[in-house]
Amino acid sequence: MKHLLGIENLNKDQIMNILETAVSFAEINQRQIKKVPTLKGKTIINFFAEPSTRTRTSFEVAEKRLSADTYNIAVSGSAIQKGETLADTALNLQAMGPDAMVIRHSVSGTPQLLTEIMDCSIINAGDGFHEHPTQALLDAYTIWQKKGGFEGLKVALLGDIYHSRVARSNIYLLNKMGAHVSISGPGTMLPKEVEKMGVTVEKLPKYAVQDADIVMMLRVQNERASNLLYPDVREYSRYFMLTPELLKLAKKDALVMHPGPANRGVEIDDVVMDGEQSVILEQVSNGVNVRMAVLYLLLGGADK
Ligand code: CP
Repeated sequence: MKHLLGIENLNKDQIMNILETAVSFAEINQRQIKKVPTLKGKTIINFFAEPSTRTRTSFEVAEKRLSADTYNIAVSGSAIQKGETLADTALNLQAMGPDAMVIRHSVSGTPQLLTEIMDCSIINAGDGFHEHPTQALLDAYTIWQKKGGFEGLKVALLGDIYHSRVARSNIYLLNKMGAHVSISGPGTMLPKEVEKMGVTVEKLPKYAVQDADIVMMLRVQNERASNLLYPDVREYSRYFMLTPELLKLAKKDALVMHPGPANRGVEIDDVVMDGEQSVILEQVSNGVNVRMAVLYLLLGGADK
């Protein structure tokens, strides 16, 4: 594998290889000195053309712990603001000889385009509505660590599915690994013919959550919607927020997950978000392990 553009084109063995590799990096991340020379001499550019806290920081932490040289670029402060095209920006960055570029962009397909004009490895850190592969991998790692596997698990995926690249990547991944995904959200937030992705669609969250092993909430992505997709926030919360009462319908040991950032009190109640079943901050910690594994596997690192 040279690039990581999405989960759709990965097979089960490739996914398991990434998760198993992440275990050894989890061990390194427990050490007092969390740094190994694995990617010494490699140059990685993080190009985030959309806001990010978790993904951008955890890629940078992962790169630095692997001893790579890292450089961060945002649209603000780059020559894109002076009218340079993304392709010209990419060609100029390529001319500096990076080994990899981590890219987040609001336009679906941008990472794919970069593989056609750049020589280095391209890692998709979230593109438009399309995919967010490292998020799905860190979610899978969290589930695998907590549940011991995927086969037969019921995963309730709730909220704004239509705008969610996290949803798409998770549906691809969980289906490949043998879990069953039940989705629920307002009709305006469900993609057309989503059943064809191999999920069960429920009108109300209570049916999706019933006996679920995992309840994964998604953020309402107002920034991607051209019109308001629900009458008002109170209506949305009334029918679609993950409350303690709704969570009671899931299995007693169900995990509560959310990719973040979360709209507290809109899609998830504070009590649930901060509750005992929540593994939301563990997802973030696991993101470093998984991103170290992805970088190691793509860039052919030496000793761990
Ligand atoms: N989950 C996620 O992609 O979060 P950020 O937008 O903070 O990177």
